[in-house]
Amino acid sequence: MEAPMSARCKALAGSELPVLPGGAAPYGNFPNYSCFHPPEGRVCLLPATLLSKLFPNPRAGPLLGLDVGCNSGELSVALYRHLLGFKQNHTNPEHSVDGKDLRLLCCDIDAELIERAKQHSPFPGFISYATLDIMDPSARETLLSSYLNKFGCSWFDICFCMSVTMWIHLNHGDSGLVKFLSCLASKCMYLLLEPQPWKCYRAAARRLRKLGRNDFDHFRSLTIKGNMAERITQILTRDCAMEFVCCFGSTSWDRSLLLFKSKEKKHLG
Ligand SMILES: C[S@@+](CC[C@H](N)C(=O)[O-])C[C@H]1O[C@@H](n2cnc3c(N)ncnc32)[C@H](O)[C@@H]1O
Repeated sequence: MEAPMSARCKALAGSELPVLPGGAAPYGNFPNYSCFHPPEGRVCLLPATLLSKLFPNPRAGPLLGLDVGCNSGELSVALYRHLLGFKQNHTNPEHSVDGKDLRLLCCDIDAELIERAKQHSPFPGFISYATLDIMDPSARETLLSSYLNKFGCSWFDICFCMSVTMWIHLNHGDSGLVKFLSCLASKCMYLLLEPQPWKCYRAAARRLRKLGRNDFDHFRSLTIKGNMAERITQILTRDCAMEFVCCFGSTSWDRSLLLFKSKEKKHLG
């Protein structure tokens, strides 16, 4: 069922992602991002039984998920509800439809967005939010290991990376994108990815030009370009020890949802 649209989103419906004064969203850290690309447009492509299919065996502890680039948390909450079979007004995470227990660690580079996510979280204690630049190795290892250690785990069962790859690529170049993908691959058993297509890169550069600013540092020098879903799949499967599992289809704004599985990690249960 589609969540009712908030008054805030109604006012923005049909408009394009904003050109913010001063290029204020250099990381894709748009306020109100979920009004432009609603979570429901992504989660409706995923089977509600996904967790049972991927993790059929009962296990002592909860499944652990990592949401990288969570913005203000709307998509994290929608994924959480959808994957546990919760209706819109369900606020008791003790009882998922098929007995699954899921904990999410959601991170974003933008501290204000994280603050908003914390304030509006319907499942505190089950979904945690933290400010993190995922490209900062030391901060990343500290946060992720301390979260995993609490559960006695060495990796996340599933990592979500939705509409983030382009921002890493534009800000850190080809080598940054490869490092990022390889880092995600090393941290999880399954990786669900929604890469932005190349046309979004051009639109992002255009938005900056409208503000009279130069393109992102790396835009012109990128050699990983063209069919981004295909290029990212190649990197993950050739260089990051992952295998392609399936594509869940495309959103109405032309982004595919791709699932990968680690070739190295073994199921705990
Ligand atoms: C376009 S939004 C996507 C939000 C959400 N995942 C979704 O699909 O609705 C991209 C998010 O990635 C975050 N981001 C970009 N670079 C990041 C980095 N290096 N570390 C953590 N988050 C980052 C941005 O702040 C922004 O909130």
